Amino acid sequence: MVEKTDLKKIFIKTYGCQMNVYDSDRIADVMAPSGYVRTEQLELADMVVLNTCHIREKASEKVYSELGRLANLKEHKKLEGKDFVVALAGCVAQAEGEEVRRRAPCVDIVVGPQTYHRLPYMVAEASTAKNLVLDIEFPTISKFDLMRSKLGSDNKDQSVSAYITVQEGCDRFCNFCVVPYTRGAEYSRPMVDILKEAKNLIDNGARELILLGQNVNAYHGVDIDGTEVGLEILINNLSKLGDLIRIRYTTSHPKDMSENLINAHGKIPQLMPFLHLPVQSGSDEILRLMNRQHTVKDYMKIIEKLRKVREDIVFSSDFIVGYPGETDADFRSTLKLIDSVKFGQAFSFKYSVRPGTPAADLPNQIPEELKKERLTELQDLIDKQQRNFNLNCVNLELPILFERESNEGSQISGRTPYMQWVNIPKNFENIGDIYNVVITEGYAKSLGGKIIKNKNKPTTNKEESRSQRVTL
Ligand code: 5AD
Ligand code: SF4
Repeated sequence: MVEKTDLKKIFIKTYGCQMNVYDSDRIADVMAPSGYVRTEQLELADMVVLNTCHIREKASEKVYSELGRLANLKEHKKLEGKDFVVALAGCVAQAEGEEVRRRAPCVDIVVGPQTYHRLPYMVAEASTAKNLVLDIEFPTISKFDLMRSKLGSDNKDQSVSAYITVQEGCDRFCNFCVVPYTRGAEYSRPMVDILKEAKNLIDNGARELILLGQNVNAYHGVDIDGTEVGLEILINNLSKLGDLIRIRYTTSHPKDMSENLINAHGKIPQLMPFLHLPVQSGSDEILRLMNRQHTVKDYMKIIEKLRKVREDIVFSSDFIVGYPGETDADFRSTLKLIDSVKFGQAFSFKYSVRPGTPAADLPNQIPEELKKERLTELQDLIDKQQRNFNLNCVNLELPILFERESNEGSQISGRTPYMQWVNIPKNFENIGDIYNVVITEGYAKSLGGKIIKNKNKPTTNKEESRSQRVTL
């Protein structure tokens, strides 16, 4: 039992994707029994964790420069006679391993994404160890099993929109990507554990659940009788938990978009009409060189099927420009694909060489200048589409789930079914409520609106936007 006076402060800085945000919350959970409470003020911390991302080069460089600053802070604390534990967690930790000792000697602990449940022991070890404490194994027992009771009962996340990791790792091995190496082989959590965690989150006020996984639609967790179930079964079970208005999932691979999952979009009202489905490139030759295992035609077919079962569905995607061997014609094909799908939003990146991945050794690497030019052109097109989409929402009546206050409490912000943020002046409404809002303004990245109907009861809400088709 930890006495109140023994409490220490832990500062966790998160880089990268939503999975890391989720992992950071779990790191805070596993450290709590050892007397660590989370702080948002680095100067007050007894321990700092950098939960890192390795997906692109810039991300890991940012981490090393942050470690430089932490080394100074650690020196200062030492002069004041205070301990300061520096832990490097996540994918940079996994990928760099021993190398961290050389590049950032201020680091006490290196812990990979699969072993952070062991962090309390590592902290105890670090207090006596002279050397770096390192654990970047891929253990045979999943961290989820080891943290099961924690995830099922004590998770006090009070977000209106809460994340649950349902799947981790990836077996797709796209040639540019480090995830199969840093996060390891694909693993799906048992369905019952996820349902328990979801129930707990809903009891704590969650109205939207975002199911996370590096390749989330490859989900194939076991049911209690040991049979494997797909993502659509998990979503269907979640939709029956009551009081849950919205369900989303991210990130998906086109090859794992099963017919059952596609059809679920037409059957489960809580499943939001918005899907992040990365295509990466609009050129079949580049997709082949990327080992994406799908063609442009396959991708377009999936889009068409999803639109058939849920006509108002809106898509988002990831794009990589300047992949080795990408010709101008390949790049134009990507623009053509964007033009024909019309995305509600999208993320785009310059190809970044990741040592150890097959693409790093491909011939015809593209010069940085050309990558930059292509990225700007592609982003201009995406921005134009996003702005058009937002403008085309003006005058529509959309259900908005309010998630937070903004502008020092003068506004309340929520999302449309299509993930757009809507900000309205705060009046009588509450966080966690869903209201029908008429959209009055469309901006580049958000919307403005006016509440026109009283609060929807979650049980009667069938996401009335279904009847309204948004023009893209
Ligand atoms: N270079 C650039 N972008 C990358 N991504 C993954 N690896 C790389 C890389 N080496 C992008 C992909 C992926 C997203 C999460 O990050 O578009 O979908
Ligand atoms: Fe990486 Fe996604 Fe490809 Fe898996 S499917 S290797 S996570 S880009």
